[in-house]
Amino acid sequence: MKPKHVVVIGSGSAIGQAVAEKLAVHQITVSGISRTPVQSHSSFAHAHAVDYATADWLGLFQQLQSASGLPIDAVLHAPGYAAIGPALTIPESEARQMLEVNFWLLSNVARAAATHWSSQKQAGHFWAVLSIAALRGIPEESYYCAAKAAAARFLECLDLENRQAGRHFNYFCPGKFASPFRSKSARFGQGASEDSGGSTVDFVARKISSAILSQKPVKVIGWRENAIALADRLFPHLYDRLVLDRRVKPPTQS
Ligand SMILES: NC(=O)c1ccc[n+]([C@@H]2O[C@H](COP(=O)([O-])OP(=O)(O)OC[C@H]3O[C@@H](n4cnc5c(N)ncnc54)[C@H](OP(=O)(O)O)[C@@H]3O)[C@@H](O)[C@H]2O)c1
Repeated sequence: MKPKHVVVIGSGSAIGQAVAEKLAVHQITVSGISRTPVQSHSSFAHAHAVDYATADWLGLFQQLQSASGLPIDAVLHAPGYAAIGPALTIPESEARQMLEVNFWLLSNVARAAATHWSSQKQAGHFWAVLSIAALRGIPEESYYCAAKAAAARFLECLDLENRQAGRHFNYFCPGKFASPFRSKSARFGQGASEDSGGSTVDFVARKISSAILSQKPVKVIGWRENAIALADRLFPHLYDRLVLDRRVKPPTQS
């Protein structure tokens, strides 16, 4: 059944806003929660700015349900943070921040959603925006990959524990797309030789909103990312040898 009320965490993010717009077109009530106040955005029926570090997620879900008069059918979780650079150049404070945002924040929100739906004896779908980095190692993205992979495994467990009660926990793995995300990332070391290209926010938002509307999970988003995931299954290390090894400067001989 099509959801009637979707809560977007990270409603100030490029992807959160684009998905909200697409859901609103389908007459879905979208409530937004953001870290920094979001300027009024017609796609959000209700919007709250909260301090993620101290937020009472369960209380917020109950508040949004009362404010809208509608049960929460789905939650989209979008926040993420990356610091880019060789693993040995990443300061511990940055590494911890990546785990804090990409894993701990997500797991706190997912737990609250599970608790909310369980206490209301209600079904629900939790969707997280992770990354292809959740599925494989990428040079200069070590802690980001580790945090997104931890989030993926956590959601898989939560899903297995809840799915028979109709409460589902899924995640999306897009590759690079053109949002402010990468330009906002902290950079360390000599700077990566990044490959160009990537998808548009609109393309990724379309895939995500279709999955939310149809309640049909899609894990990997993008033809290139699907090709990488397939190659990793059929020919382990091929993508590493053909593409990723070229991004890493070989050690200089003394
Ligand atoms: N763009 C890409 O190439 C790409 C590729 C794969 C996956 N992703 C994932 O897509 C998601 C959305 O990113 P986006 O591309 O839409 O970029 P974005 O517009 O920069 O959004 C990033 C989101 O993360 C929040 N955030 C950033 N740093 C944070 C921190 N230290 N603590 C708490 N929240 C923080 C931001 O909150 P504020 O709005 O308050 O700053 C915002 O909601 C992220 O989870 C990212 O990992 C992005």
